[in-house]
Amino acid sequence: MIQLEHVVRAYGQGDASTRALDDVSLQVEAGGFVTIVGTSGSGKTTLLNVIGGLDSGYEGKAKISGKDLKTMSDIELSRFRNETVGFVFQHFHLLEHLDAMHNVALPSFFSSSDGPQLERAEEVLVRVGLQDKLNQLPTQLSGGQKQRVAIARALFNQPKLMLCDEPTGNLDTHTGAQIISLFESLNTENDLTVVVVTHEDFLFKHASQTIRLEDGRLVAEGAHA
Ligand SMILES: Nc1ncnc2c1ncn2[C@@H]1O[C@H](COP(=O)(O)OP(=O)(O)OP(=O)(O)O)[C@@H](O)[C@H]1O
Ligand SMILES: [Mg+2]
Repeated sequence: MIQLEHVVRAYGQGDASTRALDDVSLQVEAGGFVTIVGTSGSGKTTLLNVIGGLDSGYEGKAKISGKDLKTMSDIELSRFRNETVGFVFQHFHLLEHLDAMHNVALPSFFSSSDGPQLERAEEVLVRVGLQDKLNQLPTQLSGGQKQRVAIARALFNQPKLMLCDEPTGNLDTHTGAQIISLFESLNTENDLTVVVVTHEDFLFKHASQTIRLEDGRLVAEGAHA
């Protein structure tokens, strides 16, 4: 599913240059559940951005489902980001003046000629357990509920790959654990490949693989039983 070969992502020039990613090679099988760990500044977000086609300023190769991201045109790349990948972040990124349903359906406002696909939005909100909150505004939702809306939005286009950057970072332990078990069931039941950047690796007992970064270098890649 994901194949990186000798990926280097450098910022700055000459002596001032830093390598956010320094010769990273790795492989993730389709249907895998991967956690990425490492201290602040170790390159976790940078790695996620390369995999998700958000950052093309790297050297080396990044292939997703066998396709080299560098060979894609801008249009192909944005289609890849919209259709193949679902992104989830620490700070939910919801629009405050739209209810749950419209936050989730937002991508279809622009892409669908039939207008927003509210039925699909309802379907994914039900999937994440928010059938009672369809018309609530983000300010009327708890942190965990907001993250569920963001996950529903990421699921809207039936992605094959879910990339999550500290999705439980703003949640208490109990709520975080519920979000983690939602990812686990999406991974198992929907055959979704899940990659999660996290500081709370110990909570992800279900993970099939852990990638550890240190100063942009992959220091350990452990496959779990
Ligand atoms: N746009 C940028 N310009 C210059 N340097 C950058 C840029 N983005 C990231 N870096 C540098 O690259 C390195 C890795 O950053 P990255 O955001 O990937 O770390 P991270 O592991 O996600 O950290 P955190 O846990 O704090 O989110 C850091 O040294 C950072 O300063
Ligand atoms: Mg980060």
